Amino acid sequence: MSNFINPAIVPKRKLYTGEEIPCIGMGTFGSDRFTAEQVSAAVAGAIRCGYRMFDCAACYGNEDQIGKVFKDAMDEGVVERKDLYIMTKVWNDMHERVEESCRKSIADLQCEYVDLFFIHWPFPNYHAPHCDVDSRNPDSKPFSVEEFVATYQRCEELVEKGLIKSIGISNMTIPKLEAVLPKLRIKPVACEMELHPCFQQQKLFDYLTAHDIQPIGFMPIGSPTRPERDMCPEDIADIQTPEMVSIAKAHNCHPAVIALKWAVQRGQIPIPFSIHEAEYVSNLKLTTEDPLTEEEMASIATLERNNRLVKGQVFLWEGANDWHDLWDEDGFIVK
Ligand SMILES: NC(=O)c1ccc[n+]([C@@H]2O[C@H](COP(=O)([O-])OP(=O)(O)OC[C@H]3O[C@@H](n4cnc5c(N)ncnc54)[C@H](OP(=O)(O)O)[C@@H]3O)[C@@H](O)[C@H]2O)c1
Repeated sequence: MSNFINPAIVPKRKLYTGEEIPCIGMGTFGSDRFTAEQVSAAVAGAIRCGYRMFDCAACYGNEDQIGKVFKDAMDEGVVERKDLYIMTKVWNDMHERVEESCRKSIADLQCEYVDLFFIHWPFPNYHAPHCDVDSRNPDSKPFSVEEFVATYQRCEELVEKGLIKSIGISNMTIPKLEAVLPKLRIKPVACEMELHPCFQQQKLFDYLTAHDIQPIGFMPIGSPTRPERDMCPEDIADIQTPEMVSIAKAHNCHPAVIALKWAVQRGQIPIPFSIHEAEYVSNLKLTTEDPLTEEEMASIATLERNNRLVKGQVFLWEGANDWHDLWDEDGFIVK
């Protein structure tokens, strides 16, 4: 098949555990736009193109359809379970029932165990699917070190039970990490965070790599198809910046491909999403050919605009000022 990229030639990243995982994965969040059928069909195609890493989540509402696709691929002998690196996440309303959530994801994904299990958000603040950006849950609370550590300990128990191989954190900040890392028995292997050319989170990126925690970059293309609630008039479209357009011209490809090349060469693991075969094939292939030059990498480094796209308004608690409170921008945990 001409669209097949041998997984063996896709570069790998080494975790602190010694495990080697692909330098790119596929996202599976349908962004309230793409149906579970469209997303799982893309996963089916992607496995056959050579993708081995998939970023799932209970709250994406499509794990059972994706599970059927994994099972079919294994039944057909396309892959064995050990060839796949399956990531999923516990949603905010299940922090006290982590094992139940994990067992449901394993059953839905038909995957026996999870390779990397994330705490999706560092607090239990729940919002209903498809909710409006102005909706607030009166039960929402600010971050609590004790609550987070208790949730994390429930994940540590899952490692001991063999349900998950590794633990990950997501949507964290340096002040929160400083507070919790010394209290964790099993260090997280990875942190999933928003990363794209106009939002590089350099300080957090450096903090994680200094602690041997692998950054995994979500919205690596700047999420042009993100949900309406995450679109603000001031947002910058990364792939439309003149620098990205001009580098793409030089490489005769789409600027999305350049954003992903930059991500891989910088050292994060991007998890781009697409339901279009031509796109997800090029998103994997780009890791194997035609790297960016040092000058091009330096040019993209200048595109930092602090343009956070997932602001998280729906997770705010009563008394919070605005979404900036979620991100501890002054260097301390906002209570
Ligand atoms: N941990 C978290 O809290 C969190 C939050 C958000 C996302 N995520 C994860 O990150 C994944 C990726 O984020 P995302 O889907 O929001 O954004 P993204 O990957 O930055 O953007 C996806 C969109 O980019 C376009 N695209 C993809 N490949 C392309 C190519 N080669 N050429 C041209 N356009 C291309 C597609 O749009 P068109 O269909 O218009 O072509 C696609 O819908 C999610 O699926 C999810 O797994 C995690």
